Order: sequence, then C-alpha cells, then structure tokens
Amino acid sequence: AKDLTGRHFLKELDFSAEEFRRLVDLAAELKAAKRAGSEVQRLRGRHIALIFEKTSTRTRCAFEVAAADQGAVTTYLDPAGSQIGHKESVKDTARVLGRMFDAIEYRGHGQGVLEELAAHAGVPVYNGLTDEWHPTQMLADVLTMVEHCDKPLDRVAFAYLGDARYNMGNSYLVTGALLGMDVRIVAPRLLWPDETIVSVAHELAKSSGARITLIEDVAEGVRGADFVATDVWVSMGEPKEVWDERIALLGPYAVTMDVLRATGNPEVKFLHCLPAFHDLETDVSREIYERYGLTELEVSDEVFESAHSVVFDEAENRMHTIKAIMVATLAA
Ligand code: CP
Ligand code: NVA
Repeated sequence: AKDLTGRHFLKELDFSAEEFRRLVDLAAELKAAKRAGSEVQRLRGRHIALIFEKTSTRTRCAFEVAAADQGAVTTYLDPAGSQIGHKESVKDTARVLGRMFDAIEYRGHGQGVLEELAAHAGVPVYNGLTDEWHPTQMLADVLTMVEHCDKPLDRVAFAYLGDARYNMGNSYLVTGALLGMDVRIVAPRLLWPDETIVSVAHELAKSSGARITLIEDVAEGVRGADFVATDVWVSMGEPKEVWDERIALLGPYAVTMDVLRATGNPEVKFLHCLPAFHDLETDVSREIYERYGLTELEVSDEVFESAHSVVFDEAENRMHTIKAIMVATLAA
C-alpha cells in the first residue's frame, strides 16, 4: 500500500478505495487506543493551521482535540479574522502559511480556492468542507457505518434523502461508488447531483461493483437500506431565499418514522452530519418552522431522538477520523 505521507485530502476522489479504507481502519485503531489510554503521540511539535471561512462546531473541535491528543498545536483563523482572499491572495497566503505550518485545514466556499491553496502551500491541505465536498465527514460516516452494521462495506446499502446538489449529496454519491456500496440518492430530480459527478460515480462503480441509484420515489429508494442519511435543506453560504424552493421540493423527503419503516429494516440506522433542524431550539430553525408553518424539516424530532439515530457516534467519529488523516499524512 502506498504511503500517505505528504498527501492532500481535498476530496474523496484523491484516494483509492484501498487508501480510503485504510484511513477508516487507522481511525478505528486510534479510537481504540484513546479509549484504552494507550494512544501514542506521533505528531509532537507539529503545527496545524485551521482556516474557517464558514462557521463550525464539529470540524474545528475535531481538529483541535485530535491535534492535542497527538501532541500537535493548532492555530485557528476565524471567518473574519484573517486577510485571506480579502487583502491577500490565496496563493500568497498559502506560501506564507506553508513556511510556518506542517499542514493546513481549510473550510470555505469554492473547491477552487482550496485547490489554489494546496497548489502553493507545499504542505498537506485538508478540506474541512467546501460547497462541493465534505470528505472528512465521509470518513466519519463510513467509520460509523462499519461500527453499526455487521456486513462488509460492499454489501451495505444507504439512502441519502434531501438536497443532493451540494457537498453532502455529492460526497455520499462518490464515496459509496468508490467503496462499492449500494448508494441511493433519493431526491427530486432538480436536486440531484450534477451530471459530471453522476458520471464519475458510474465510472467508479464499474470497478468497485457499487450499485448507484438516483430516484425520486422515497419508498422505493429506501427499501432494504441499512442506513438513511440526510442533511440540512439549505447549506451555509446559500441565500435565504432558497428556503422557498427547498420547502416546496423537499417536504416528502423529510426523514420520519414512516420513512424508516419503509426500509423494511427494523435495525435501520439514521445518520446526519449535523447541525440538524429537528427541533425549535435555535433561532434559525424556529424562524423557518414559523415562517412556513411546518412541524418538521429534514428529520423529525422523533427519528432524531430514537434508538435508530447514531448521529452522536457519527459526530464523535469526526475526531477519530480527522486524527487519522493527520497521522497518516504527517507522522514521521
Ligand atoms: N458536520 C460538520 O461539519 O459540522 P460543523 O459544521 O459543526 O463543523
Ligand atoms: N450541507 C451543510 C453541511 C454542514 C456540515 C452545509 O454546507 O452547510
């Protein structure tokens, strides 16, 4: 197996299936070692820059805790507090940070900015979420699937319901295709991933044996699924006005108990990268619920709080998997 030292992690497709699975295995080992109190620090004295042009709870904390566990030091550059892209080009920023840091995490808008950063940094660059992809999330989701399903990955079926034209939908499609899984994108046609991504997935499926389904019908789409996943209907960086369209299109794709029952699988598990709008606990969710007179958005509170839900394992796994990426790409 090829050494991953020095590699970027810009999108899932930067890795072969074998490499991707190796990262998930490494994360499982690191998780077990931390639990056993036997974790070995392999990143002592390393410095990691964390650039966030969008807000975050999990991704930022995962990088910070993972780095600290491994003996590395992080520097957080918040959405407003750096010159990047406003007063200094991405290319210059990359060359400056590359002189000080051993790796750079970047969360922002376009994948192009991330690629520009990677092209000039001279150190590994990790995608902490762009409009197009959320690859570190995929490592956590795959680890969570491995933990919650006895079948080998290439026999696991999962259905993603909701907005599939954005980072999570794109990432699920290619990750499932890469790993030879049974992937169902269950969404109104208008919100299916871009044609180019769908063809990449079909191409991958030829060698991985993945089954790729893009389907509008919810009951048929989820039948037999081991996992049902969703995401917010409007993502960071999208204008508020798109709520009208999303509410109109996505109502039938809300993950309710009926949807879980339609899988026919009493053991079905529910995934959500979080944050989720499952209740009225936040200003944003309250405003949307009230404006549209709704009682649920992408997932019902009942599903979210049920025994089917493994979202907090999934959230914890962000930390173990992000640690695995840093160890695999940086450890001596
Ligand atoms: N799932 C995820 O990326 O969460 P944050 O936006 O809180 O980092
Ligand atoms: N699609 C969401 C994911 C958040 C982790 C967003 O981009 O806001």
